[in-house]
Amino acid sequence: MTSQIIPVAPFDFIIFGGTGDLSERKLLPALYHRQRDHQFSEPTRIIGASRSKMSDEDFRAFARKSITEHVKAEYIDKAELEKFLSRLSYVPVDAKSGDGFDKLKKALGESDTIRVFYLAVAPGIFGDISHKVKEHKLITANSRIVVEKPIGRDLESAKVLNDIIAEDFGEDQIFRIDHYLGKETVQNLMALRFANALYEPLWNYAHVDHVQITVAETVGLEDRVTYYDTAGALRDMVQNHMLQLVCLVAMEAPASMDANAVRDEKLKVLNSLKRINGLEAPKSTVRGQYRAGASSGGPVKGYLEELGSNNGSNTETFVAIKAEIANWRWAGVPFYLRTGKRLAARVSEIVIEFKPIPHSIFNDMAGPIQPNQLVIRLQPDEGVKQFIMIKDPGPGGMRLRQIPLDMSFATSFNERAPDAYERLIMDVVRGNQTLFMRRDEVEAAWRWVDPILRAWEDGRQEAQGYTSGTWGPSASIALIERDGRTWHESV
Ligand code: BG6
Repeated sequence: MTSQIIPVAPFDFIIFGGTGDLSERKLLPALYHRQRDHQFSEPTRIIGASRSKMSDEDFRAFARKSITEHVKAEYIDKAELEKFLSRLSYVPVDAKSGDGFDKLKKALGESDTIRVFYLAVAPGIFGDISHKVKEHKLITANSRIVVEKPIGRDLESAKVLNDIIAEDFGEDQIFRIDHYLGKETVQNLMALRFANALYEPLWNYAHVDHVQITVAETVGLEDRVTYYDTAGALRDMVQNHMLQLVCLVAMEAPASMDANAVRDEKLKVLNSLKRINGLEAPKSTVRGQYRAGASSGGPVKGYLEELGSNNGSNTETFVAIKAEIANWRWAGVPFYLRTGKRLAARVSEIVIEFKPIPHSIFNDMAGPIQPNQLVIRLQPDEGVKQFIMIKDPGPGGMRLRQIPLDMSFATSFNERAPDAYERLIMDVVRGNQTLFMRRDEVEAAWRWVDPILRAWEDGRQEAQGYTSGTWGPSASIALIERDGRTWHESV
């Protein structure tokens, strides 16, 4: 079964930081896939812009390498690749001095084609680029700007950054990307909740016991020492990706899929999150930092050794939080969140655990009756499993057993799962902001995260060591077990 691909209008896609890591690993491969699926209309152009002195040919060679390295060989179609490369050109620019922007203007010409300025650069130069683009009169009515996280490192700095960009672009032109929102199963969460009558009546405090969200990674610092050590897991994963998942699980049905209708509902969830202040932080949050151990079958270094410093960094590479949403739907239902690097497996999933049955009619021989769980697996092996109790088959009497009704997307649809960036980039071109964060959402998320950061600093809450290749510090297990619950076995 193949889904129909609807071509988008022609566009000019300018990648600031075109020769950087994000462009190489994500943007160019994603754009290539859209070419291969014939989603572009003519004339569509992709322009790399960064400080490196490069010719068009050099940039094409860079893109060719990126695609051969990051796209599976079976998806490389020679003719489509050549066609894709022929769309590429390159302009060296310096965001600080403004050198090169005139050339960029010339390259873009006077057309009113859709223009996407993609800022695949450090947030420190978002403002310089946005201002230079405006000064050189490159912003047309049909222009959009895309910014990547981190949008600030706390509420104050996020506001400053948002203000700077707002000097040049209207809110409806600003696309704040959170690639988790582009993941197939994250969108399926919307379909599951709002295209089925089955779950919605149960989706509240009366029937849901608790929710768990796990985003576990096996990788360590990778090459991001400087960024990561000043960020940590709370800023890197919770403030954005995990809170966005909380929003999609917890929000009310929006009036429509209109971007603002959806974002209004998400905002209400963020505003309803109970603040975790100084006294609560040690009870409701766990910070961890990986030590040496084993990952993917080999020994790995601890965080501090990887950092190569002996300054005793207290940056967390793991965080677990018991969050609560103070509203009618979710009162008293804990949302347990955990994320970390160098954990036992790479797995992201959302577990909705329903309340136990009110009364059992079965005797002890039947065995324990497990509460129903709905497990939404974002990666790997995207899919949804609904765990239910059944009678064990056979003549052995009424013995009960839990089994999953298994809806695996990977095996049910014989299609390549597109990367989140492919969908999000096409949405930018279409001007659809539904899967992008509005300014007030980003700020509301920081408003909840800030007191935790402050509590950690003020209370000197140390990051507790955990062995690489495990599920994090034992305090994370204690956090949920104190409430008589356990983390879902994710593997
Ligand atoms: C990024 C974080 O936003 O998401 C990284 O900065 C993290 O630290 C990554 O590794 C995880 O994304 P994914 O799609 O691999 O789950």
